[in-house]
Amino acid sequence: MKSIHLQIRFLVPLLVTLTVAALLALPLLDRMTLRWFSRDLSARGAMVAKTLSLAISDIEPNAKLDRLRGLLERGVLDERLVGIALCSATNEQILSTKGFPGSLTCGEAREIAKKQDPRLELSSGAVHIGDFPVNAQQADSDRLVLLHDLSLPDRRSIDTRRYMIIFITVLGLAVAGITMIVAQLSWRGWVSGMRAILRGEGLVRPLLQTGTGSAVADSAPPELQPLEVEIRQHLRELEDNLYREHGPLTPWDPERLRGLLRTQLRGDQVIVVSNREPYIHLKGKDGGITVSRPASGLVTAVEPVMRACSGTWIAHGSGSADRDTVDENDRVAVPPDTKDYVLRRIWLTEEEEQGYYQGFANEGLWPLCHVAHVRPVFRESDWAQYRAVNQRFADAVVAEARSDDPVVLVQDYHFALLPAMVREKLPKATIITFWHIPWPNPESFGICPWRRELLQGMLGSTILGFHTRFHCKNFTETVDRYLEARIEHEHATISYQGEPTLVQSYPISIAWPTDDERLRWPAPSEARRAVIERLKLPDDACIAVGVDRFDYTKGILERLHAVERLLEKYPQWQGRFVLVQVAAPTRNALEEYREFQDRIHRVTDRINQRFGSDGYQPVRLLAEHHDHAALMELYRAADMCVVTSLHDGMNLVCKEFIAARDDEQGVLILSRFAGAARELPEALVINPYHVEETTDALHRAANMPPNEQRERMASLRMTVREFNVYRWAGRMLADAGQWRLRERITRRVQRRAREGSEAIDA
Ligand code: G6P
Repeated sequence: MKSIHLQIRFLVPLLVTLTVAALLALPLLDRMTLRWFSRDLSARGAMVAKTLSLAISDIEPNAKLDRLRGLLERGVLDERLVGIALCSATNEQILSTKGFPGSLTCGEAREIAKKQDPRLELSSGAVHIGDFPVNAQQADSDRLVLLHDLSLPDRRSIDTRRYMIIFITVLGLAVAGITMIVAQLSWRGWVSGMRAILRGEGLVRPLLQTGTGSAVADSAPPELQPLEVEIRQHLRELEDNLYREHGPLTPWDPERLRGLLRTQLRGDQVIVVSNREPYIHLKGKDGGITVSRPASGLVTAVEPVMRACSGTWIAHGSGSADRDTVDENDRVAVPPDTKDYVLRRIWLTEEEEQGYYQGFANEGLWPLCHVAHVRPVFRESDWAQYRAVNQRFADAVVAEARSDDPVVLVQDYHFALLPAMVREKLPKATIITFWHIPWPNPESFGICPWRRELLQGMLGSTILGFHTRFHCKNFTETVDRYLEARIEHEHATISYQGEPTLVQSYPISIAWPTDDERLRWPAPSEARRAVIERLKLPDDACIAVGVDRFDYTKGILERLHAVERLLEKYPQWQGRFVLVQVAAPTRNALEEYREFQDRIHRVTDRINQRFGSDGYQPVRLLAEHHDHAALMELYRAADMCVVTSLHDGMNLVCKEFIAARDDEQGVLILSRFAGAARELPEALVINPYHVEETTDALHRAANMPPNEQRERMASLRMTVREFNVYRWAGRMLADAGQWRLRERITRRVQRRAREGSEAIDA
């Protein structure tokens, strides 16, 4: 059907073109044939006139008139000659034949003969007039005026036209026919080529046939080959998205997430496990208790999801007043105002915290996965604590579960062993593990002495999520290298000891601010004024903000070097450019962190001494915890936000900055080594190791016209609003829903089969 439409679309213009061509060509052709005939008649006339002239000159003068008349009458016996007149040089008619019209004078006839188309319409038909001298050597010679019948050329012209029309029609039909055949053949070729690609034959068949890897080049028609891989990838992504989101194409929000839980997971209980807790209760100096939200990308993302889903969040109780705020089961309802879900706290001894958290997680796995030029340290004693604490949290999950098949969301590198431990006790649980940090290549990961145990633990998950496909690929290759497992790339699954795990990328995000929240924000101009006053910045300051945990993976040193170079290279910024760097205290118990933080303080002092003056410091290092409102104020006051991570799973600071800028102003400078760079190409994407490049990006951001800022920011905002954290969680839960459905059906089918065979045996 499609090919017929295609052909009609092609044929109709072709036929119209041929018709127009015919309409234009026919009059032209007509004129040409008449001109040829006219030239032909003139030549014939000249011949006849010459013959007559010779005969006229032989006639004796006294016998002249009678003999002449007879001569001319014989001349007109030629069927094409209508009449002949002999005229004097002064245009008097000497004599004429019968057919020569009496009304036509010699003068008139000779005038017409001079024209390009010497044609005269008579009542008997059209004639062609020729005028020839009797004696060409004599200037005042008599003239012979010959009238040729034009009905023959006219008839021929009509015949020519008819043949021409027939020719054009036949030609048109032939071209159309050939076109249809060619179109049909090539359309079929395309269609079957595309079908083969979609069926996967393009990739698989040649592999089977040849046993080589040159499948793509051998399979598709040549014109499709460059497109093949790309089309398949896009189709897979589309199919993926539809499959995960199948439901109305409404934006992802808490309501839609709740709906998904109700419908696809039948309201099953959700249990989150993480090391860091979402709310920390602290004893104040006055003896009162305050609640703090930790600086953690994990908490930023998972907390709104838990508010939407309810359930239980199991985490390490690390606050000084945490024990004072829980009930006898170590539970407390949070958030403090709305109490949407339960926080179940686990208490760790100092040794446990030291070995599992400081040691194995943060001195071992953190540098191992970030590849940020800090050596991982692996101690046997830390590993023992890590295993023990994973088991304690796994036991807590089992204790909190109200059914044998809860949905357990395991967060991050602190709990690589926990999925298999939970699976052992709750085989029917749906365990979704999300790895919030990068996954390195197999060689890097291979230096961990317990690499196999870690992989085995993680493969206890039903679904294993990473931020990017690249991390999924690294993980799959690592499993391939160190375990005996079946890897199905087509289905993104790894089966270990018969149990499959889906390995997928789920880019994490933030909750898009609600209207109520936005109403509480200060206007950007107010925020700017407040920040300038509080930090005593110059009135015309160009404000860059950096917001990070005080961690060596965040590229804070590289950022400082870029600011220093900016002030050297573009001295016009001295006295105006200020980097306000928020560095939230983190993991201070670790030597590596303390040394790094000292170094940042030293470099900051050096830059401030070098370029600072009374009332001006180019770097303001704020190494203290900032609450959400304070960060919003900073983001809204800033001219730019600088994210220079040396390696980062995703990085949510950049997304928070984007969400804060509803005025569509402000520039984002973003490290290409943060997962977010793949989603946010409208940022100024830089390599933080390249100081000059980062310097130029700072300069460019500081000079960027408001229009360009608006264009970039509007596009960034669209992305973050749509790809929000509810979508992140929704996609994982939808996959889990599908998985559970499949499991239930399989179990039911197996049970019926068992019952059937038992009945037969009986
Ligand atoms: C990263 C990790 C999180 C962690 C956060 C803060 O974002 O992926 O798991 O919570 O850092 O680190 P902390 O050690 O203070 O929890």
